[in-house]
Amino acid sequence: MRVAGVHRRTIWLADDGWTVEVIDQTRLPHAFAILPLRSADEAAVAIRDMIVRGAPLIGVTAAYGLALAMRADPSDTGLAAAASLIGEARPTAVNLRWAVARMVAVLQPLAPAARAAAAYTEAARMADEDVETCRAIGAHGLGLIETARHGGRTVNILTHCNAGWLACVDWGTALSPIYQAHDAGIPVHVWVDETRPRNQGASLTAWELAQHGVPHTLVADNAGGHLMQHGEVDLVIVGTDRTTATGDVANKIGTYLKALAAADCQVPFYVALPGSTIDWTLTDGVKQIPIEERSAREVTHMTGRDADGTVRTVDISSPGTRAANPAFDVTPARLVTRLITERGVTHASRAGLQALYPEHAV
Ligand code: MRU
Repeated sequence: MRVAGVHRRTIWLADDGWTVEVIDQTRLPHAFAILPLRSADEAAVAIRDMIVRGAPLIGVTAAYGLALAMRADPSDTGLAAAASLIGEARPTAVNLRWAVARMVAVLQPLAPAARAAAAYTEAARMADEDVETCRAIGAHGLGLIETARHGGRTVNILTHCNAGWLACVDWGTALSPIYQAHDAGIPVHVWVDETRPRNQGASLTAWELAQHGVPHTLVADNAGGHLMQHGEVDLVIVGTDRTTATGDVANKIGTYLKALAAADCQVPFYVALPGSTIDWTLTDGVKQIPIEERSAREVTHMTGRDADGTVRTVDISSPGTRAANPAFDVTPARLVTRLITERGVTHASRAGLQALYPEHAV
């Protein structure tokens, strides 16, 4: 997608051919900064500290992290150590483990001397596949937006967190249908949940929609139910970090409450995902999906820009306040109207998913 009119991906190789470069998402929207990653340690830190985030981008960064590891130590021990370091950087997004497992499966059978080159090739393939997957998700989701366009009026879409191109390599998952609708001349307007505590909506989604010229309005997380009750939302589209074989979805904390409000107001609630987000081993998302618990400081503190342009982090709570920070919640399949995948739109159920991914049929 475009940044100041220039097409960019979220991850690429530097001119030296081996350093990995990413957009430092902790600096947006106040600064557009590029960060080089030169080791597996740096890749793991980038994932853990959310310099890169979003399930698909976490996966591709993990793949490049293993490529960096193979440059330094391509032995069996080096591969196992890097796979474990990177694979444990964040717990909820299954793409991370999916990407690490795929890289290990490619690299393990090779002689150590061949591993670094093969790792870079495989990571680049995963990045390219992610772009095509997200483009296809958008093409399938576009039809749902078209259907909601009753007689030429603007389609109002609510989204939570950032499931746009910043969360992937390009296009995004939940935002891909929106970009494609906008590009096709369908009038769309996006309600952007701010997404406390880290404000991915305010800092990232609003920023990338603005870069692409998509009309949007930032709202406090708690506004969604009210907007739905008053007919201001035609549909909701969100992403997911892990989807069970039965169609439950884990996504950014607060997603479940939006799904409850959508069900109460008969607003369609769509979840967009690549197949790599499906954890075929799980059947009950609430009981089985591990939920990342992040630092309490993300709740007690907020970062923003002063009138003089200085970016500051301030405490918003009474000193010593205890805070809890579960980073994801699970929306049960019964609240999901449809899943939008790279292979088409389907029911959030085992039958629905297996119809699209017959290779995982049991
Ligand atoms: O904690 P984050 O910012 O990595 O959470 C991201 C989300 O919740 C996204 O909605 C999800 O990864 C889907 S991304 C296409």
